[in-house]
Amino acid sequence: MNLVVLTGAGISAESGVPTFRASDGLWEGHRIEEVATPEGFAANPALVQDFYNKRRRQLAEVQPNLAHHALAELAARWEGDFLLVTQNVDDLHDRAHALVPPAPGFQLIHMHGELLKAHCTVTGRVIDCPGDLDPRHDSPFSPDGWLRPHIVWFGEMPLAMHVIDAAISQADLFVSIGTSGAVYPAAGFVQDARRAGARTVEINLEPTQGAGLFDDGLYGPATETVPAFVDSLLQSASKG
Ligand code: OAD
Repeated sequence: MNLVVLTGAGISAESGVPTFRASDGLWEGHRIEEVATPEGFAANPALVQDFYNKRRRQLAEVQPNLAHHALAELAARWEGDFLLVTQNVDDLHDRAHALVPPAPGFQLIHMHGELLKAHCTVTGRVIDCPGDLDPRHDSPFSPDGWLRPHIVWFGEMPLAMHVIDAAISQADLFVSIGTSGAVYPAAGFVQDARRAGARTVEINLEPTQGAGLFDDGLYGPATETVPAFVDSLLQSASKG
């Protein structure tokens, strides 16, 4: 059975990483256009680099939670293809999967980029970035380039879409965890999965606006719902 799981900020919320859509419409006190668009970066690189430097430093203070670990366990034991697509730029999935080696059919994609990477503004080449970036950080790849956060900003193309589209077209089960379904193209994956004939499941604190598009819903904190869902999935898979 082929599985595609999409995760969003809700899966990391109980680790202490804030979600995006707070009621004040601001992201950690900033307008989205200031800190999450190419125009915002061009207008004020110091503000934008500083914003992501702070987010990057915060990663040292958070740990994967039971929901990340449950998906890592699933990845270790799942016998079909399993694509885990996260919209999150934290490294909590990566750290959970590092503890239990995934089965060969597993792949993790960060479709909105990764805080712990940077890329060159001229060549697009990606480099590990564990520390702070300066406002105009020299790129090792081009004398005319700078390093910027490896984050997909609004107006930019999410990463590895061809891999994601191919996996969804083959999916038997599509599970959406902790995402509001407010940002496309991820918000459209459930419809693509339905067209492919997959069963669709939403796992969230509460039903989202798109809840009606899912065959089933499981509601409550991710640290409770995701381990329970993984247990039942592995049990039904072992009964085959
Ligand atoms: P949102 O902040 O829009 O939504 C978070 C979702 O998580 C909501 O539906 C909450 O109900 C749910 N949630 C919160 N706490 C939870 C918990 N403990 N257990 C389960 N669910 C919980 O975040 P995303 O949908 O991830 O893009 O946002 C999508 C994209 O918008 C982000 O990747 C980011 C942002 O702009 C970029 O940075 C490009």
